[in-house]
Amino acid sequence: MLNNKLYIKTWGCQMNEYDSSKIIDIMKKELNCKITKSVQNANILILNTCSIREKAQEKLFHQLGRWKNLKKNNPEIIIGVGGCVASQEGEKILKRAYYIDIIFGPQTFHRLPKMIYKVRKFKKYLIDISFPKIEKFKSFPLTKTKNVSSFVTIMEGCNKYCTYCIVPYTRGKEISRPYKDIILEIKNLSLQGVKEIHLLGQNVNSYNYRNIIKQDYCNFTKLLKMISKIKNIKRIRFTTSHPQNFSDDLINIYKKIPQLVSFLHLPVQSGSDRILSLMKRRYNVNEYIQIINKLKNIRPNIQISSDFIIGFPSETKKDFYDTISLILDIDLDMSFSFIYSARPGTPASKMKDNISINEKKERLHLLQYYLKQQTKKFSLKMINTIQIVLVEGISTQNNQYFGKTENNRTVFFTNDYNCIGEFVNVKIIDSYLYSLYAKFISVCKN
Ligand code: 5AD
Ligand code: SF4
Repeated sequence: MLNNKLYIKTWGCQMNEYDSSKIIDIMKKELNCKITKSVQNANILILNTCSIREKAQEKLFHQLGRWKNLKKNNPEIIIGVGGCVASQEGEKILKRAYYIDIIFGPQTFHRLPKMIYKVRKFKKYLIDISFPKIEKFKSFPLTKTKNVSSFVTIMEGCNKYCTYCIVPYTRGKEISRPYKDIILEIKNLSLQGVKEIHLLGQNVNSYNYRNIIKQDYCNFTKLLKMISKIKNIKRIRFTTSHPQNFSDDLINIYKKIPQLVSFLHLPVQSGSDRILSLMKRRYNVNEYIQIINKLKNIRPNIQISSDFIIGFPSETKKDFYDTISLILDIDLDMSFSFIYSARPGTPASKMKDNISINEKKERLHLLQYYLKQQTKKFSLKMINTIQIVLVEGISTQNNQYFGKTENNRTVFFTNDYNCIGEFVNVKIIDSYLYSLYAKFISVCKN
C-alpha cells in the first residue's frame, strides 16, 4: 500500500476549518493517511479554498503555482482543490492549472479517497462539485480529539441570497443534519473530555430537520435543549445566526439553558435601512435593536458582536454614519468589518459601485477605530473581575496556560500544576486589545 502523506491548507471561515478536520478524519480512516505539516514531505496536497471576499481566484493560482514545481519533480503527487472557489470555478481552474488532479466542492469532500484511487488508476483528472443531499455528513467517522472545545456543523448552505453573498451559490441550499447524528457526535466528543461545543452553520437558527415519513422534526431551540442535557457539556456557542430567524422562542431559551454563553455573534452588516434593503437582509435596524433589547432583558450582561460591510454600492456618508451610531447605540463588542467586494454572479455585483476605493478605505478605517474603542472598553471593564476560563493548553509564545472566558476573550496565566481541560477561576489583572492576563485562583468545582 502506498505511503500516503497528506498536506492540507485551509483558507476562510470556521466551517472550512471544520471541513478540513473532517477531510483529515476521512483520509486517515480510508487511506491510512499520515498528516504532515511540511508540503515537501507530502504526496497528497489539498487546498480548501474560500471565496467570500477579495481576489480569491488570484490567490488560488498563486498558491497552485508554488505547488506546480513539486509536481514537476514528483508526478506521483496528487493535488486537489476544494471549497468555495472550486465550487464556483469548477473546470475553469484546469485551464490555468492543467496539473490539478481533483476539483471537489464543499459537499463532496467525503468522496476524496475514492477520487484519489480513481485518479491514480486512470491517470485522469476528476471534478465533482455536485450538491448531494446529506450524504457527506453520513460518512464522517467519529472524531478523535484531545481538545476541550470543539466545532460541530449542524446545518449548511443558505436560502437567504443576500445580494452581495456568494455562499448560496458555492455551498448550496440549506441542509440540516439529522439531530440524532449531531447528538451522537457531541456525546462522543464529551466522552473524550470536550466541555465546550461550538455549533456551526451559515444560519444555525434556521436549523430545521424534517423527516416527513417518520414524522420526526427538530428546530434549533429543540436541538439546543437536547445538547444542554448531554453530560459534561458546560458551554454552548453558535455561529452564525441571522436576525430574521432570531425568534422569541430562541431568545427565551436563554432563560432556560445556562450553558448558552452570554456572548452572541449576530451580524447586522449595516446601520442603514436603505442599505439593508438593497442587501436583501430581510430586517430593519429597529428589528435588530429589538432582538438585542429582548436578549439584554434576559441576560443583562450579554455581549454582542457583529459583521459589517463597508462601501456597499450607493452607501452614502449618512448611511455610513448610521452604521457608526448603531455600534455605539447597542454597545457592540469586538466585531468584524470588511470592504464590500463584488462577487461574480451576485445581484449586487450588477449594482453601480460609485464609491472610490480610497473613500471605502477611509470609512473602514474610521469604523474600525470605533470598533477597537468598544473592544478596549469591554476588556478594560474586566480588570479586577473574577472570570471562569476553560483552559485549552500552554501557549508556545509565552509558555503560559491559556483559555477562553465566556465572552470569548483569550486569557493567559501561570500555574504550578497542570490544569488543561479544567474550568478555572482567575482574576484578570491586565488587558490587551484581544487578550487578557490573569492570576490563577482555583479550579472550579464540577
Ligand atoms: N463583500 C464583503 N464582505 C462580505 N461578507 C460576505 N460577503 C461579502 C462581500 N461580498 C462578509 C459579511 C459576512 C461575513 C462572513 O463576510 O459581513 O457576515
Ligand atoms: Fe450569505 Fe446572507 Fe446567507 Fe449569510 S445569510 S450566508 S450573508 S446569503
